[in-house]
Amino acid sequence: MSRYLLLLSFGFATFGLVLGIYMGISQNHAQLVAHAHLLLVGFLMSFVYALCHRLWLGDLITRLAKIQMVLHVLSALVLTAGLFMLYGQIFPGHVIGPVLGIASIGVFLAFLMMFWLLLKHPQARQ
Ligand code: HEM
Repeated sequence: MSRYLLLLSFGFATFGLVLGIYMGISQNHAQLVAHAHLLLVGFLMSFVYALCHRLWLGDLITRLAKIQMVLHVLSALVLTAGLFMLYGQIFPGHVIGPVLGIASIGVFLAFLMMFWLLLKHPQARQ
């Protein structure tokens, strides 16, 4: 589980860093919100979840752990793609807003699931 999350986190970082370099070169910072969320929600949160699995959860593979990973990754993908479309003016706010809202709730629910896994797992309590 930690390996999937680690690789996914580096995938998010690749897109986030490329977008940052593009913004720097083009002097067009319109996508700074998508860049920041790709790196913070996509890269850093996935990386932290990979560390949680590796260090405290013993890479446990339960149904909840799988749901947590899939929910976090899908929500982060939808959130960052939605922000990219909003700030790239591909869709107006009233169209993309509800999608961003649902994706944000997905990110938060996945966070709560990881919190629960850490609270419940014996190794994480030591
Ligand atoms: C290749 C490396 C990077 C480049 C070229 C880059 C480039 C940029 C640029 C051009 C901006 C817009 C600044 C502005 O308009 O105020 C920005 C903002 C931001 N970047 Fe990066 N960035 C890089 C790496 C990172 C990393 C590693 C993180 C976090 C893990 C990060 C997080 C942020 C955040 C949070 C903002 C928003 C700051 C604000 O609201 O003023 N960036 N970045």
